Amino acid sequence: FTRDDLAGLQVLITAGGTREPLDPVRYLSNRSSGKMGYALARAAVQRGARVTLVSAPTSLLPPAGVELVSVETAREMYRAVMERFAEQDVVVKAAAVADYRPVVCAEQKIKKGTDSLILELVRNPDILSELGLRKAPRQILVGFAAETEDLEANALQKVEKKNLDLLVANDVTQPGAGFGSDTNIVKMVYPGGHIQPLPLMDKLSLAHRIWDAVVELRSGKSPA
Ligand code: C5P
Repeated sequence: FTRDDLAGLQVLITAGGTREPLDPVRYLSNRSSGKMGYALARAAVQRGARVTLVSAPTSLLPPAGVELVSVETAREMYRAVMERFAEQDVVVKAAAVADYRPVVCAEQKIKKGTDSLILELVRNPDILSELGLRKAPRQILVGFAAETEDLEANALQKVEKKNLDLLVANDVTQPGAGFGSDTNIVKMVYPGGHIQPLPLMDKLSLAHRIWDAVVELRSGKSPA
C-alpha cells in the first residue's frame, strides 16, 4: 500500500484502555485491546504522516515508524495529549478512557476484611471535549463512541457536544464489532447529522476508511 495523501501531516492517535489504580497492585480498567488505535497508527504511517501514538497499556507491538508515548491513567493521557495538541493537524481519539477513577489510591495493598467494600470514584477529565474547546480551524478532531444502546442518537449528540469533525460509532453488542475483535462495524457520524453506515471490515481497512474521510474533510469537500 503506497499512497502519500497524509504526507506532511502530523497526527496524534490515542489507543488502549486507561488503568486507574486502586492500590499498588490493583486497577480499574475496561476491555479495550488497543487494536483500532494501533491500526490507525499503522495506516497513517503507510500514507506518509508523522504519527504520535499515545497509548495506554496493550499487548500490541507499536507499528514501525511511530513515536510511542506510553501512559497508564486518564490523567496521564490528558497531559500527554494536551502537551502535544498545538502541533497536531489531526487527532484521533480511539482510546477507551476511564470516565471515573478511585478518589484515592491506597498506599498499601487493600486488605480483605469486611463483607462489603465501597469504592468512591470521581470523574476524570474528558480529553476529547477539552480538545473540542481548544481546536483551531485547521485542526481535525475524530472521536470514537462505543455504545450499547441508541447508537445514532447518542452519536449525533456527542459529535455536536464535543465539537468533532467526525465520530466513529460502534454498537459493541454486535458480534464482530468493537473490543478485542479484529473486525469492526461502525457508522461514521458527521456534524449536521450525516450518517454513513459501513459494513463489517477488519480494523486496518476501517483505519484507511477513516483516513480517507480525514483527507476529504481537509480538502473542504462535504463527506460522501
Ligand atoms: O463520551 P464517550 O466516552 O462515549 O466518548 C468517547 C470518545 O471520547 C472517545 O473518542 C474517547 O477516546 C473520548 N474520551 C476522552 N476522555 C474521556 C472520555 C472519553 O477523550 N474522559
